[in-house]
Amino acid sequence: MLKPRIFSGVQPSGNLHIGNYLGAITQFVALQNNYDCIFCVVDLHAITVLQDPDSLRKRIIEVARLFLTAGIDPKKSIIFQQSDVPAHAELSWILNTVARMSDLKKMTQFKDKSGREEANVSAGLFAYPVLMAADILLYETEVVPVGDDQVQHVELTRDLAKRFNHQFKETLTIPKAKILKSGARIMGLDDPTKKMSKSAESEYSRIELLDEPSVAMKKIMRATTDSGSEVKYDYKNKPGISNLLTIHSLLSGKDIKTLEKEFVNKGYGDFKKAVANEVKLFLTKFQAKYNEIDDIDARKILDDGAKRARPIAKKTLKKVKEEIGLN
Ligand code: TYM
Repeated sequence: MLKPRIFSGVQPSGNLHIGNYLGAITQFVALQNNYDCIFCVVDLHAITVLQDPDSLRKRIIEVARLFLTAGIDPKKSIIFQQSDVPAHAELSWILNTVARMSDLKKMTQFKDKSGREEANVSAGLFAYPVLMAADILLYETEVVPVGDDQVQHVELTRDLAKRFNHQFKETLTIPKAKILKSGARIMGLDDPTKKMSKSAESEYSRIELLDEPSVAMKKIMRATTDSGSEVKYDYKNKPGISNLLTIHSLLSGKDIKTLEKEFVNKGYGDFKKAVANEVKLFLTKFQAKYNEIDDIDARKILDDGAKRARPIAKKTLKKVKEEIGLN
């Protein structure tokens, strides 16, 4: 029996943080036994904002090494670099002719990223969700594991696929987003009302996967907490403590209720120390594994992944071109 297909991507646009890991990458690892998985380092997405060429090159390999460190197994899953498979750019162009300006103007990520500078951001940033739709649709993907911030883009992908299938013949598979009940939106440490992000200015807002563990501990100790002193999950009134509870719970495997009991009659200080310790333990183990993976091996895995991805993508692109009369 064929396993259902999964596709997801991560941008090499900044240092990956525990939000990327807990919201998305842990899902990738858990799903690879029951699905036919394809995971992509989406470099063409990263260049929608200006990147330093040397850092970009370095980060592409870094993301591949982080995938491997987290436990993505290249024997089970395909790991590849987006720009190594030209069909992504090609289908993206075709889907740009299916997408409407009004669809793209609704995208909250574009609104957030462009802010008041809309006239000066690249057209690529505006069309970014269409490239994401091409990524997903090329592989007849059924399930897209992501964090909560990407759900709107997967919804757009569904709409574009349906519109294409309606305008032409049933060609494209309609995918579904998959988010975790806990961890789909890890919040910033300095401002727990905003999601943790690679691009937030303050490094104190995020724990990066390659942070020195002692630095990460300091970041946790400095995290914004809330008024009161009770360690209790209540996102509305206690977003800071609730976020730290989520992080602790996902790293330690203890559920939130158990943690609340453990910290009854203890203050925020004790609780933060415990979270900082959990983060330190995790990063120390994770980074030891990361350091064992060689850049050259990671490059080979990406090259091999592209070889396996190309024929799958080509097949969908061929069907699409036939439907619209390009061949
Ligand atoms: P990116 O690179 O911003 O993030 C990678 C993954 O991490 C998730 N994520 C989070 N999850 C929980 N809490 C957070 N604070 C947090 N921040 C980020 C993201 O939701 C994502 O799953 N457009 C995508 C990349 C992409 C893609 C695709 C994803 C390109 N093509 C096709 C799926 C399918 C992005 O920018 O992710």
